[in-house]
Amino acid sequence: MANLTSTFIGIKSPNPFWLASAPPTDKKYNVERAFEAGWGGVVWKTLGSEGPPVVNVNGARYGAIWGADRRLLGLNNIELITDRPLQVNLQEIKEVKRKWRDRALIISLMVPCDEDSWKDILHRIEDTEADGVELNFGCPHGMAERGMGSAVGQVPEYIEMVTRWVKQYSRMPCIVKLTPNITDIRRPAEAAKRGGADAVSLINTINSITSVDLDLFAPEPTIDGKGTHGGYCGPAVKPIALNMVAEIARSEATRGLPISGIGGVTTWRDAAEFMALGAGNVQVCTAAMTYGFKVVQEMISGLSQYMDEKGMASTAELVGRAVPNVTDWQYLNLNYVTKAVIDQDACIKCGRCYAACEDTSHQAIDMSADRTFTVKEEECVACNLCIDVCPVESCITMRTLDQGELDKRTGRKVGTYANWTTHPNNPAAKAAE
Ligand SMILES: Cc1cc2nc3c(=O)[nH]c(=O)nc-3n(C[C@H](O)[C@H](O)[C@H](O)COP(=O)(O)O)c2cc1C
Repeated sequence: MANLTSTFIGIKSPNPFWLASAPPTDKKYNVERAFEAGWGGVVWKTLGSEGPPVVNVNGARYGAIWGADRRLLGLNNIELITDRPLQVNLQEIKEVKRKWRDRALIISLMVPCDEDSWKDILHRIEDTEADGVELNFGCPHGMAERGMGSAVGQVPEYIEMVTRWVKQYSRMPCIVKLTPNITDIRRPAEAAKRGGADAVSLINTINSITSVDLDLFAPEPTIDGKGTHGGYCGPAVKPIALNMVAEIARSEATRGLPISGIGGVTTWRDAAEFMALGAGNVQVCTAAMTYGFKVVQEMISGLSQYMDEKGMASTAELVGRAVPNVTDWQYLNLNYVTKAVIDQDACIKCGRCYAACEDTSHQAIDMSADRTFTVKEEECVACNLCIDVCPVESCITMRTLDQGELDKRTGRKVGTYANWTTHPNNPAAKAAE
């Protein structure tokens, strides 16, 4: 079996699956059960400074988006950082770390944006023997309104400043957790690197209102007739997270900066995708909240099997494998031409491909009187929409045209232009000639 052992910024864990800072990691009882189930590490639910206790709402904390099968696709929360006393958390962290030496235990922190508060909290956590700290510059609700969380994460100068303090006052490895509620994710990542961060983790939750109660006329979750935006996570956010991870992994300024990938990881495949795009490990929250801690066992066996099949001996061989293949649009190969093909044996004659293509795309699917659907190659632009709307997996596939083969739509032989940078319709390419 492939070796899933992971070393992330010097922190060892038996596998690359960590639980993200959230309710699954907010107490010893949870974390021990998570470790028993097989999780490689945890980032403890965010601790704040000692002071007036954090007060959560007592109505609903979550909003949700479901698929047609009622599967949870997106979760929205308005929960704050831990509302348990600091001393209780610190004592439990110490006990857990002593008992589970082979697992990674990271402490997530969020305190006011001043040097003394950070110095103080770092001093307090020192003797827990935790493996590292994660700076929560990400939560977009409740704490941001108090000048913490994403309020810090949206200002690169603050990120750099706080990260510097943390590196100055602590010997622990430092992960900076980024907010996706920003225009260009590379800027905060660069700031974290400048401040001396050992790694970044992303994404924290996305600002959202999941739904509106149309009787109360208020956002959900509704607390006594009012609602507020929350933080969105779960499978629905994975595409956004993957792109942000890739942006950091391939950017010159942050190349080589270790990344912990977070956002919608539910299966081993999700994890492998994050890792291929440059994440050294992954963190999971919603999948554990939806399916329980044992979901990690599927992740472990699935990733091992995949790595065995690919002949990968360690996770290091997977990390970043897809990064060189992420490029900018203008470098995509215009010689690569495909056409849709419908497998008549698999087709259930529902007509979705026809409706989508006829009404909204390129009128490239023909429907006969007996509802046989065929592709008109002379119209097909290979947009893929027919595949995306077809309810039968692999019923529609794309056939790649050979070099030199006639593309019936353009009337040109495949192989004429390498990419947009040399295309005759590109004014920049013409100017360069
Ligand atoms: C109820 C809830 C509470 C959360 N609390 C925290 C927190 O205290 N600190 C933090 O850094 N992230 C917190 N998060 C964000 C998660 O750590 C994670 O970044 C996010 O949920 C995306 O991962 P997922 O799609 O696997 O859930 C919370 C998420 C949820 C759902």
